[in-house]
Formats: sequence, C-alpha cells, structure tokens
Amino acid sequence: MEKVVSLCKRRGFVFPGSEIYGGLANSWDFGHAGTELFNNIGSLWWKKFVQERDDVVGIRGPVIMNPKVWEASGHLKNFTDPLVECKVCHQRLRADQTDELKAHAETHPPAGGEKVEWTKPKNFNLLFKTFIGPVEDAAATAYLRGELAQTMFTDFKLMAEATRKKLPFGIAQIGKAFRNEITTGNFIFRTKEFTIAEVEYFVRPGEEDKYFNEWADFMEKFLTENCKLKTENLRRYEHSKESLAHYSKGTIDIEYKFPWGQGEGSSAAGGGIASWGELMGLASRTDYDLKNHEKLSGRNLKYRDPDTGDEFLPFVVEPTAGLERLMLAVLLDGYHEEKDRVVLKLDPRLAPYKAAVFPLLANKPQLVELAREIYDDLRRHFMVDWDDRGNIGKRYYSQDEIGTPFCITVDFDSLKDQTVTVRDRDTMQQERVRAVDLAMYLEDRLK
Ligand code: GAP
Repeated sequence: MEKVVSLCKRRGFVFPGSEIYGGLANSWDFGHAGTELFNNIGSLWWKKFVQERDDVVGIRGPVIMNPKVWEASGHLKNFTDPLVECKVCHQRLRADQTDELKAHAETHPPAGGEKVEWTKPKNFNLLFKTFIGPVEDAAATAYLRGELAQTMFTDFKLMAEATRKKLPFGIAQIGKAFRNEITTGNFIFRTKEFTIAEVEYFVRPGEEDKYFNEWADFMEKFLTENCKLKTENLRRYEHSKESLAHYSKGTIDIEYKFPWGQGEGSSAAGGGIASWGELMGLASRTDYDLKNHEKLSGRNLKYRDPDTGDEFLPFVVEPTAGLERLMLAVLLDGYHEEKDRVVLKLDPRLAPYKAAVFPLLANKPQLVELAREIYDDLRRHFMVDWDDRGNIGKRYYSQDEIGTPFCITVDFDSLKDQTVTVRDRDTMQQERVRAVDLAMYLEDRLK
C-alpha cells in the first residue's frame, strides 16, 4: 500500500488536497495521470452499464435536492452512525469500529494514567448540511446528496414516460456524493466526498430476486473481465439483517482484498495484512423509496403497464460502485515490481496514456521534428505523452510506472525509412512499425 501511495504522489495520480496549507484530512486531488485513469474507469463503467445495455438509460441530477427528498428517503432519520466520545480527550469515534476503539485505548492517555472511558453511543447523521440563500435558519437548510439514487426515484415517472421503456429497466448516474464520515482513512478508500456510479433497476414485484442474481454476476464480470481485477482478490459478502441499510431487504457487497492491516485476513501481495473492503454493493430496495416519495409528495409514481393498463409501484434492485475505491483496487492489482522496473499493468483501456512518443535525442532537431509530427497526429486519436528527457531506458521506466502500454521511439533509421520502434509495456518486446500506420496499429493493439 505504501509503495502505491508513494507512486501515486510521485507520478501524478493522487496528491493530498490543499497540501500547501497543510492539507485537509482525507481530501485528495488527482493529478494528470489520476484524472485520466479515473475518467477511463468511469467511462468503462458507463459503457458496460449503460451504453451496451438497451435496458438502462442515464440521468444527471443535482447535488442539492429539495430537502423533502431526504425526509421521504429516510436519510434524515436513519442515515446515521453510532458515535462515542472519549471522556479523557473528547475524541469522537464510531462505536461499531471496535479495532479503532481498542487502538485509541492503547495509545491513550499520553500521561497521568487515566483510563479511557466512553460516553454512551449517540446517533450521528452523515448528511452534510448547508443553507440556501443568505439566512442560515431551519427553513433554509438543505443537504448535499448522500447517495445518487434519489434522483432516479424522484424522476422515475418522468423517465418512464420520456424513454417509453418497459419494465424491467434501469436509470444510471455517475456523480459525487457527500457523507460526513466520522472515521475516514486508508488513502482514497473512505473520504467525505466520493464518486458513485449506480443504477436503480426497476422490476415487477416478485421478480427482484432473479434480477438481483443477474446483476451480482454482471458486476463481478465487470470487475474481472473489464477492470482486470484478480478473482482471488474479490469476494462476495452478504449483509446480515442487522447490518442492512434502512431501505434494503437484502444486500451483498463485492469486496476487494486491500493490503492494510485491520481485522482478520491473510497476507497480501505487498507483504502486509489484508483486509476486505467494499468496492461495489448490490441492494434489493423493494418499493421502499417510491412508496415514501409517493406518500410525501402526493404524486402518483406508479408504473402503468402499457399492455394491460395495470398500475403498480415497481421494486428496485440497485447495483452501485465507488469509483475512487475502484481506482485504488485497479492501481493495487496493476502494481508489479520486476527485476529492474516497477510496472503498472493496467488494462490498456484504463491506462492514462495509450502511448508515449520519444525522439531518441532531444538535441537533434530532425528527430524532434518527426517525433513531434507523430505525437501531434496520434493525439487526435488517443491520450499520448511526450518525453525527451534523459536516456531511453529512463523514459521507458517512467512510462512503465504510469502504465503506458506502448512507447514509440523516433531514431536515425526513422529519418531514412519512416519507421519507428514500438515497445510493448508488458513483454518489453520491440518492433518496427511504419509511422503512417501507427494510429491503426495502436487502435488494433489497444483492443
Ligand atoms: N445508493 C446506495 C449507496 O449509496 P453505498 O454502499 O452506501 O450505497 C455506494 O455507497 C458505494 O460508494 C460503495 O459501494 C462504496 O464503494 C462507495 N463508498 C461508500 N462510502 C464511501 C466513502 N466514505 N468514501 C469512498 N467511497 C465510498
């Protein structure tokens, strides 16, 4: 984990946020490589969950919705964590995180021999509050969205009519959610603002279990076949009745074996102790949300079957994913140390840059000119990096570290025969390719 965190900072994936002011706990900025990787993960999710399915359509909702939404959804009442306060130092921690409580008790007190005592657990609401307009009073109170799903529920009827989709169909969204988490940490794993990619999939009551199972397989396939995560680093975890969210009648998480030492787990590749953490979730939300929105808004949100004329509230199956967590898992799984290099073996679709172009020598204008021509041309098709510093070996090394699948070198032979060397990240094999064929060659190899 430490090696990946260090690589992330060194190579422009992830930096501590507001670093020049000493940072802000658990806020992170993505640099050039992180931004591309993150966007590629989001695009791949959208391609698989929306574009390639004819039963899912997209939507884009606001971060601040009418506060009644959160009343109806139950988040104002139920979206809480139990919180206890240390009576000695007044630090607040989650009452259900026994490892953290134990760690606090061990390091405490700094002097004097006082024993840690905790206050009784109190429920703490995770929604971030804000105010609309100049007056900060109850009437102006609003909330930053704690999940994306609510837009899909409030707009369900409009979307069913606008798309004329028949059940079963889903509405998808990617966007930021905000939670005033008490315990954040483990790099970008748990933060107060993060990006969710989720689908609310509307089905006929009684058909939810069938679609729940189909989505569970679909999600796993996405992680292994598209994000190329290793199956041994993934598992399904079924929530007990006690740990279900207030809206769910059944939830499974798809978890990733993260290499940090909390709780039980076996040795991970990095040599640390692994602990399983949620990457994706799948919840059976029944008609809980639509029913409550119908009640509070007074609007009819029932689906009208175009064939039979029957009206009813659909049930909902919800596949969801945290994109920053997914990015962390992709980075961890891709990280390889070999004899002379560190290489990020990312799926080419996810790699920040698809290729990098190097003139063999930076002080030979003819080489630079031809390399620049190739670079300018390829950039019209792909994200391409440029490097003319240091020797070629060092340039390969630094592209390997950010997972660039192909490096293209323009050398003296290129000036004679208009061919270039293309080096493959994984095999390190090199071949000569005609400069005019490069775009097609890369297109083909990147598939
Ligand atoms: N609408 C359902 C929902 O929001 P969730 O499991 O609470 O479900 C969705 O959140 C996903 O967001 C999770 O699967 C997880 O990957 C990610 N996630 C949850 N809390 C997070 C946090 N504090 N920081 C980063 N990612 C988080």
